[in-house]
Amino acid sequence: MKTAHIPFIWGLGFHIPTRRVTNADMERLVDTSDEWIVTRTGIRTRYHVEPGEACSHLAIKASQKALADADLPAEAITHVLVATFSGDTVIPSTACLVAHGLGLSRVPAMDLAAACSGFVYGLETARAITALHPEAMVLVVGSEVCSSRLDFTDRSTCVLFGDGAGAAIISAQPRPGAPVVRDVLLRADGTAGDLLTVRGGGSAFPPVLGAPIGKEYFVEMNGREVFKHAVRLMAEVCQEILLRNGLDVAGIDLLIPHQANVRIIEAVARKLDVPMERCFVNVDRFGNTSAASVPIALADARSQGRTPPGSTVLLASFGGGFTWGAALLQF
Ligand code: ACO
Repeated sequence: MKTAHIPFIWGLGFHIPTRRVTNADMERLVDTSDEWIVTRTGIRTRYHVEPGEACSHLAIKASQKALADADLPAEAITHVLVATFSGDTVIPSTACLVAHGLGLSRVPAMDLAAACSGFVYGLETARAITALHPEAMVLVVGSEVCSSRLDFTDRSTCVLFGDGAGAAIISAQPRPGAPVVRDVLLRADGTAGDLLTVRGGGSAFPPVLGAPIGKEYFVEMNGREVFKHAVRLMAEVCQEILLRNGLDVAGIDLLIPHQANVRIIEAVARKLDVPMERCFVNVDRFGNTSAASVPIALADARSQGRTPPGSTVLLASFGGGFTWGAALLQF
């Protein structure tokens, strides 16, 4: 159900690690080609962390940029949410590490598991928190070290994903000129959850001391099937959120979909009848950064001047689970 609670986005920021991995680098690892990767995915480069660099490190850097953008000290943050499937450790949560890294010791902090839709799930959670606590200043981060969960012998997955983090600060406290979150719509369906998995290490496939690490510890995906579901469900949820807000696609100035594959983005845009000029793409530079993809794309789009004051922006996400969702923003 749609609610009237419309919080402000005080700040945005993103951080990409420095190690640039080109398609030529991928050609040296697996039997692939720049031509195959570009034509099937649109990806030209992705960035991976250096050894010792973990999910929380990227998240903290993105958060510091969002704080600077909001012109706020870290102490202003009242809640920390981190969406990720590649957190530093099982315990503590990455959100606790991020809060600690920002110098916060008494604020609630938790991780969100919704795969690539994690940031949009985080936005809705922030809306709920800010509706309950009008004084709250919620930090929502999508951060991933996908490279830590990639099987670099599997050409069908390892070329697709990159590392990075994006952050937003959400509050019901008004900020003149700040964009607002008009609405968020979330969905999940476990029926086809086995099409995209990282199974190893959980209680269904517990790690056994001294046993070898198998393929189940890495991203496994039926790409062709995931592709079809991603296109259909992202288009559907976009139509649904537009309908319940009395809008049609002509009212959308920029569509920012999950950056998994340029062919998925083009197919969603075609289904919605949104011209590609009104669709944001940066998967060519960063690859699929899972939960970080939408906040990175949002902050990147704004820094490129693609979200001028008055513009209506539609975010769309899709990820393992399956989880999917949309968010309507007004700049
Ligand atoms: N280089 C060269 N050949 C490859 C590669 C590669 N990197 N990967 C797969 N191939 C081969 C396959 O082995 C297959 O060969 P075969 O016909 O001899 O068996 C051939 O290419 C075609 O494989 P398909 O899987 O049918 O290729 P498709 O056109 O579907 O593209 C891809 C594969 C890019 C994975 C695509 O299906 C896709 O993007 N799917 C969606 C995946 C996705 O975006 N997931 C993320 C969404 S959710 C999330 O972000 C967690």
